[in-house]
Amino acid sequence: MIKPGDLHHADYKSAVTDWAHNSKDWPMKEEIEKLKVKSELELTNLSTEADVYQFKSRYLGRNGSLTSLIKLLRDVDPQERASVGAALNTFKKELEEHIETALLHARFTAKNQRISESRVDVTLPGRKLPLGSRHPITTIAATVIEIFTSLGFEVVEGPEVELDFFNFEALNIPKDHPARDMHDTFYISENTLLRTHTSPVQIRTMKLTNPPVRILCPGKVYRCDSDISHTPMFHQVEGLMVDEDISFGDLKGILTIAVHKIFDEDTRLRFRPSYFPFTEPSAEVDIQCVMCRGKGCRVCSNTGWLEILGSGMVHPQVFRNVGYDPEKVTGFAFGLGIERIAMLKFGINDIRLFFENDFRFLSQF
Ligand code: DAH
Repeated sequence: MIKPGDLHHADYKSAVTDWAHNSKDWPMKEEIEKLKVKSELELTNLSTEADVYQFKSRYLGRNGSLTSLIKLLRDVDPQERASVGAALNTFKKELEEHIETALLHARFTAKNQRISESRVDVTLPGRKLPLGSRHPITTIAATVIEIFTSLGFEVVEGPEVELDFFNFEALNIPKDHPARDMHDTFYISENTLLRTHTSPVQIRTMKLTNPPVRILCPGKVYRCDSDISHTPMFHQVEGLMVDEDISFGDLKGILTIAVHKIFDEDTRLRFRPSYFPFTEPSAEVDIQCVMCRGKGCRVCSNTGWLEILGSGMVHPQVFRNVGYDPEKVTGFAFGLGIERIAMLKFGINDIRLFFENDFRFLSQF
């Protein structure tokens, strides 16, 4: 006969089944003890959460070993049934507690493992992040701003969507003035447009403040034009100085200082008579060609000179338009293109490169 402790006996299974029909020959309590020993042995071998769940279903599942034993309770001799039932219950409780503990243990172990696997190795050499650099347009704009603020100019900004009045009318460029053709304007409606230059900021400023005025207005401007030397959006810096007794000498002095600082002290300048509706007299400023130093080359079209900005004495009509008395105050204004200066300084021959965002181009600055 198979003994209750004969766990590994080949006939164990059929013996248990037989016992189900003959419980008196097979003391239930010993069967419980046997299963307890077996479960304790298995419990020590559980490591993962999945192991624990499998174990649970092996014992407490619908066809689990303990569940099957409990089902057999009804076949037990009625005299023993109460105590066997109690033993089964105790075992079940213990098993449930052990399972709970094993689960906690498995989770704790898994967590520790996750932590140790993801631990930072502080001895590894650091990974370098690619370092960005300033866009050449930003660099030149900052240089120009720095120079003029050191001369006492204050930075003022204005809107890019502008009224026709500020962009043209108040600057002495009425509706059918031929100068409007020079601007290739993007109109938004009959009276609103994308500003074609930063000059409207001088009007806005003078309308709001009394002289003296010494301002610098950097910003984006827009013209419907695109080729090797034009982009639909580009950057300008406008300057304005108004006070009593401001002369063309002040204009020449300030602009000469600024140009020498932007390029270098040896750069020769030339003030060439020109025309702008909002200044009288007007002058364009040329610098000696930075490529050939005046000898004549492709960049300067063999003239030896490069045009870099427009300027002039503020037109009396502009003063009247903003409510200033042209008998009392005078002033000068100028406007320069940032891209143009950047191209000359860095030797760039296509303005479109600034806006293509090609990393190979940008990382050179
Ligand atoms: N606004 C002019 C332009 O876009 C540049 C300019 C010329 C501005 C002469 C001025 C000036 O203030 O006096 O082309």
